[in-house]
Amino acid sequence: MANIDEILGYDFIRVTESAAVAASHTMGLGDRKRSDQVSVEAMRAALDSLEIAGRVVIGEGERDEAPMLYVGEEFGTLRGKPEGIGVDIAVDPLEGTNLCATGTNDATAVLAAAERGGLLHAPDTYMQKLIVGPTARGRLHIDAPVVENLRALARAFDRDVDDLVIVVLDRPRHAQLIADIRGAGARIRLIGDGDLSAGIAAAVRGTGVHAVMGTGGAPEGVITAAAMRCLGGEIQARLVATDDHQRARLAQLGYSDLSKVYATEDLAPGEQILFSCTGVTDGELLRGVRFFGGGHRTHTLFMSLTRREIRFVDTIHREDPARPVYFET
Ligand code: FBP
Repeated sequence: MANIDEILGYDFIRVTESAAVAASHTMGLGDRKRSDQVSVEAMRAALDSLEIAGRVVIGEGERDEAPMLYVGEEFGTLRGKPEGIGVDIAVDPLEGTNLCATGTNDATAVLAAAERGGLLHAPDTYMQKLIVGPTARGRLHIDAPVVENLRALARAFDRDVDDLVIVVLDRPRHAQLIADIRGAGARIRLIGDGDLSAGIAAAVRGTGVHAVMGTGGAPEGVITAAAMRCLGGEIQARLVATDDHQRARLAQLGYSDLSKVYATEDLAPGEQILFSCTGVTDGELLRGVRFFGGGHRTHTLFMSLTRREIRFVDTIHREDPARPVYFET
């Protein structure tokens, strides 16, 4: 099988860069729909120029609810052609639409890719998640009491429980989880949105994030799993239905066992995983897009499982070569 890396090189970097730049132009305008729309359009246009037979497995929604990047949409110059190398992608053109609309930290443009079948086609429901980095991989279990998991996490980091920071989405559904974490003595960073970038931060030492716990979007869970495959981290997850309608929808899609725990490799089983994430606003790991006369600057985390590469790509884009560029190192 041809390797996706060999065909694409670093093309996916440009895909998330273009979505991030488009979104960033709308930062702080208070219009989350517009922010989402421009990032989707930019990502779709960039994807379509790639020489692959691409297919969206996680996108903006089902075909009847999303005009672009809907689940099942095909893209790329070789779509439908037998010579085209098949690539499945999971996209989140703007992870944290509210964060971008309010000019808050940690909005990103994200994409994960793999060979056909390499990413779980997860439904657009919720997902209970436990995310840790390589330091604590294999030490915690999603069904263990919170206090036990925190003690195991503390042992893995060789520190006390009260030296840990756990990221939790600030939602009423997490009242008990938050109480349990506080009761165990660990510290919490409550976030308004963006459990995907928080998950990545948990897999990188020095970010001050040691784990992510709680329930967020299932699509974000699959993209997080792709990142964890590249970073050596771990996500444990379980699909969650919040009402009978969702339960029925999940059953219809073949997800009837809601007790099943998904491991990282269940969510992202691919052998040729690529991951690209560009900062829209500033965050733990990535700077947001910065504009200056005649150009702009982007900051991207790009990873390849087959190449075993984790790259931070800092790019100056000169829009107008007639104008001088001013940037700092
Ligand atoms: P959007 O980018 O679609 O706004 O999603 C942001 C997000 O916070 C995700 O990071 C998270 O997984 C999910 O929404 C949580 O969903 P909800 O806001 O319904 O609790």
